[in-house]
Amino acid sequence: MRKKILIARRAPADVIERLAACFEVDAVEGDGVLAPDELRARLQGKAGAYITGTERITAELLDACPALRAVCTMSVGYNHIDLAACTARGVLVTNTPDVLTETTADLGFALLMATARRMSEGERLLRDGQWKSWSWDFLAGAEVHGTTLGILGMGRIGQALARRARFGFGMEIAYHNRSRLPADTERELGARYLSKDDLLRQADHLVLVLPYSAASHHCIAAAELSLMKPTATLVNIARGGIVDENALVAALRERRIAAAGLDVFEGEPRVNPALLTLPNIVLIPHIGSATLPTRLAMARLAADNLVAALTGATPPTPLNP
Ligand code: DGY
Repeated sequence: MRKKILIARRAPADVIERLAACFEVDAVEGDGVLAPDELRARLQGKAGAYITGTERITAELLDACPALRAVCTMSVGYNHIDLAACTARGVLVTNTPDVLTETTADLGFALLMATARRMSEGERLLRDGQWKSWSWDFLAGAEVHGTTLGILGMGRIGQALARRARFGFGMEIAYHNRSRLPADTERELGARYLSKDDLLRQADHLVLVLPYSAASHHCIAAAELSLMKPTATLVNIARGGIVDENALVAALRERRIAAAGLDVFEGEPRVNPALLTLPNIVLIPHIGSATLPTRLAMARLAADNLVAALTGATPPTPLNP
């Protein structure tokens, strides 16, 4: 008998075909997110779950779906999956690293540029018919080239950002990470390791690229923001919960930092209404990896993982043994 799987979000046609060639597929159509109850119901009797970052896989859900043997997420982040609970129940978990690294770093750099150079503010003003003339300090923003980029979280995406900043924009690179990079990688990137507090103090622009977990929840809050330069920009392309949004709103309102660029939000897709009132912020809807080639690569890698996981092969990018 063929194993049953759930594809929990709309997926590319070739991915559905590939999975349907191997398994009995229950594929969600449309772009709504399944409510937790619905997800539990649709997962009954399924051996595999093909999910994205919006489906939460909890211990309770696993206990309610004992047939589940593999959870394959089309995302590099996996904070929506209780990995320890999966491992304890023998459920294989995979994600999609590497294929989105450069694309996400591109977006991170674009968001940094847009934030420092006040591009959204300029576009809003232009569309509102408020562009009256030129003046010497009209929409004058912060310099990017030649300044210091602080990177909090120096994994694959952090390093890809560092290369853009160093070799494209002549920036100084400073970083903080759970573990320090090998000396030759630091040399190659021209990256200086700093304590988190020193990074906050020295960065002209700070980009957050660290994984989200209980340990990194609100790791940028009022105390951290107070260490930053009043001219600094903060960019978050990691997960919304890393930043205390209310503290960020206060810091931006009081100009304790100059500007922020957010691709991710604590309650996304809901956006804290206070963020929407600020002029000195660029807000985009979690599109770090959103190019067609990259999203297709992610979707296909997640399918490769699921096929391998349920046919006894080693998945290309496992998160647990
Ligand atoms: C990821 O892959 O974790 C992204 O945030 C989702 O596109």
